[in-house]
Formats: sequence, structure tokens, C-alpha cells
Amino acid sequence: MNKTLLITGGASGIGAETARRAASRGYRVAINYRSRGEQARTVAADITAKGGQAVALQADMAHEAEIVRLFEETEKALGPITHLVNSAGINGRHGRVEDYDAGVLSTLFAVNVIGLMLCCREAARRMSTKHGGKGGAIVNVSSMAATLGGRMGSSAYAASKGAVDAFTKGFAREAAAEGIRVNSIRPGMVLTEMTEGRLGDQAFRARIESSIPIHRIGEAHEIADAILWLLSDEASFIAGAMLDASGGGYII
Ligand SMILES: NC(=O)c1ccc[n+]([C@@H]2O[C@H](COP(=O)([O-])OP(=O)(O)OC[C@H]3O[C@@H](n4cnc5c(N)ncnc54)[C@H](OP(=O)(O)O)[C@@H]3O)[C@@H](O)[C@H]2O)c1
Repeated sequence: MNKTLLITGGASGIGAETARRAASRGYRVAINYRSRGEQARTVAADITAKGGQAVALQADMAHEAEIVRLFEETEKALGPITHLVNSAGINGRHGRVEDYDAGVLSTLFAVNVIGLMLCCREAARRMSTKHGGKGGAIVNVSSMAATLGGRMGSSAYAASKGAVDAFTKGFAREAAAEGIRVNSIRPGMVLTEMTEGRLGDQAFRARIESSIPIHRIGEAHEIADAILWLLSDEASFIAGAMLDASGGGYII
């Protein structure tokens, strides 16, 4: 197998679980991190200990030059990038619209939207048959928040993920004839580093679980497996899709 997968935000949560499972399916894996160097190196070391190939590479998705460098370093270490998962993301600040802060919104969109779009640009330049590439597959990690505007106080985050879905649809149509399949996945509430603080509050957790038709929080591996299916040849006719991995959505 000759597949190289770059995962942004791969040191923790959904990204880390995707990295581990991808490696066990034969992908060479580049694990991008911003500040979690030790966690990223642990994931890479676990993979290499099992006979896989992985590297941990630092780059901040809010900086174009670092994104460009990340793609160059990935290729140098592991060969041509054939697959990309954009999992890096932040919540921004929860709150009402009248309390918005322009700096917080800029950072939220810089990471969740512009960084992701620039990663797709770098991937397109390498994967597109139009540019001499051999095609590939990309999964953008969106959120169920994109569907209903998010839970109360999450409108800015929801807007950033709505942008991810709209961009994914447009990019998918542009890239499909050039050998690249682009899809997004919309996780519901999943227990990861992003949510463990809030989910530690048992009353909050019970309220969330009662709003989910399957009546429980998701686990990172349940999202990772769906991502790996979208990346795989089993999903060869799936392009421009939004896959809800959410236990049935949520009722608000
Ligand atoms: N957990 C959920 O319930 C849920 C639901 C729907 C969607 N999602 C989405 O799923 C994705 C993964 O989140 P997660 O739940 O796995 O949480 P997580 O463990 O917090 O993962 C997010 C990762 O993104 C990285 N990151 C943040 N800003 C970055 C930047 N500027 N440059 C590079 N990396 C950056 C974080 O690393 P640093 O801390 O080092 O920056 C972290 O490793 C996110 O896009 C999130 O919005 C999560």
C-alpha cells in the first residue's frame, strides 16, 4: 500500500484516533500539532512501535507559511500526500451574539475555515491530475452544529462549520473530475479533549445525552472509522457529501 495521510490536529481526540486506525490499515501518517508536541510524538511512537510509519510535525493552522511548510515536510518525510484529514479546530468563545469579540471571531475563522481551505489548496496542488498528481481523498471535519446553528451560545462555531460544509461542496465539485474526492463529516457531541471539561459536569452531560436520539455521547473511534471509510476506495462514488456521525442528531 502506498498511501500517505496528513492529519491536522492529529495529536488528540478525533485526529489522534484517526491517525492510529489509519496506520493499522497501512497508511503512512503525518500527525500535525500546534502545541501538543509530546502527545503527537506519543501517537507517532505508538504507530512506529507497531511497525507503521508516522511523523509528528508542528504547524499552526492560523499561519499560511506554516501550512505550506507542513505539506513540504510531510512529503519529505513520507512521500506524496494521497489523503488529507482536516481535524484541527477550536470552539472559539461560547456566548451570545451581543458579546462577540472581533479578535476571537478572527481566530476562530482563521483556524476552522481559512486554515482548512489553505490545506485543501496545498492538497489540490499536489493531488489534482490537472497538476500532474494522482488524485486523492480529503475529509473535512465539520460538526452537527452546522445544521441547526449549534446549541445555545455556539452560533459563531456553527457558522465556521457551516462554512466548512459549503466550501466542501464547492471544492468537491471542482476537484471530482481531477481525481480528488472531498467530503465532510459532521460529528455530534463526542468525548475528546475539546469537550471533556464540559462533559465532566454530570448534569450537563445528562442534558446533552437526553437530547441525542441514541441517548449517549459519541466516542472518537466512532468518528475515526467513518472518516477512514470516506477516505477509502469503498467510498469511491462519494464526493461532496456531508456524513452525519451523531447518533441521530440532536433535539433543541
Ligand atoms: N468533540 C466534539 O464533540 C466535536 C463535535 C463536532 C465536531 N468536532 C470537531 O472535530 C475536530 C477535532 O476535535 P476534537 O473533538 O478531536 O478535539 P481536540 O482533541 O481538541 O482536537 C482538536 C485539535 O486541533 C488542534 N488545533 C487547534 N488549533 C490549531 C491550530 N491553530 N493549528 C493546528 N492545530 C490546531 C488542537 O491542538 P492544540 O491544542 O495544540 O492547538 C487539537 O489537537 C474539530 O474540528 C472539532 O471542531 C468535535
